[in-house]
Amino acid sequence: KKVGIIGVPFEKGQKKYGVSVAPAALRYAGLLEQLREIDGLDVKDYGDIETPGIEEVAMENMAHLALVSACNKKLSQKVSQVLKEDRIAVTIGGDHSIGVGTVDGHYKVNNDMILIWVDAHADINTNKTSESGSVHGMPVALLVKEFSHYWPYLPTMDWQQPVFSIKSLGYIGLRSVDHYERLAIEKYDIPAFAMEDVEEYGIKKSIAHVLKRLDPEGRRPIHVSFDIDSLDALEAPSTGTPVRGGLSLREAINLMEIIHATGRLRAIDLVEINPALGNETDRKVTIEAGLCVLKAALGASRRGTAPRGVVDL
Ligand code: ARG
Ligand code: MN
Ligand code: MN
Ligand code: MN
Repeated sequence: KKVGIIGVPFEKGQKKYGVSVAPAALRYAGLLEQLREIDGLDVKDYGDIETPGIEEVAMENMAHLALVSACNKKLSQKVSQVLKEDRIAVTIGGDHSIGVGTVDGHYKVNNDMILIWVDAHADINTNKTSESGSVHGMPVALLVKEFSHYWPYLPTMDWQQPVFSIKSLGYIGLRSVDHYERLAIEKYDIPAFAMEDVEEYGIKKSIAHVLKRLDPEGRRPIHVSFDIDSLDALEAPSTGTPVRGGLSLREAINLMEIIHATGRLRAIDLVEINPALGNETDRKVTIEAGLCVLKAALGASRRGTAPRGVVDL
């Protein structure tokens, strides 16, 4: 198994300073070394996406559109490249607006992909429904073709055509959903396992239901977009929009192990870790949680790995 790491030090999809530091913080905490310890995993670092010196354009209730667009354009190309080089694309954000680039880049290589959005939030606002004007609450709405007529013309975004179908999307972990987001989820009958559903079915059956709905034959490539705020705010406090009552780290690890076991994970994003928020302990547990999630998704076993080449004790 081969993976490619892409860092995206981008934070203009939301308002707080610090999300852009996460790729460096995760690397410093040992991301590459820890992934390389996973049995049989070949890890290549593709470095960071940088987009300096972009001129802003004004767009109603949508902050920093040109910056978001420029970053995602580069990111999309990089994700496509990593996938074409036969590696699982592991993208380290950055805020969740970068989901536009990762999913776009993945779709261009595997147009039969399904998308599992693991998040406290649905991130399916448009600039008409958003209460914040922050693009990290809009990536899903930018991606899906069923929403294209809800958007005005978006300058600088011509490179991205909304081609992904909302019918290939599922949610896990929701517990902070805005009014129009709720309406959209119902109207398009998106398989959404909010926390109360996770409560009722458990994490195993929740993901099983989502996968069954999106891909009954179990053949399609999987993209997981993992927002660290899907975890309970006590498990991952260093994030910009924390919500209490979320997934435990154990549930999230189990979720990732189940997705790994399908053998069909092709891309995973880890977003919204903000090392500038909270104290030293908050920072540490949040980064650790992120690393645990990625490792589980990429095949780490909690049972451990036997030494290689040794046949007896
Ligand atoms: N729904 C809120 C908004 O539209 C919060 C979005 C939070 N998104 C995130 N990726 N953390 O602004
Ligand atoms: Mn999100
Ligand atoms: Mn979120
Ligand atoms: Mn409201």
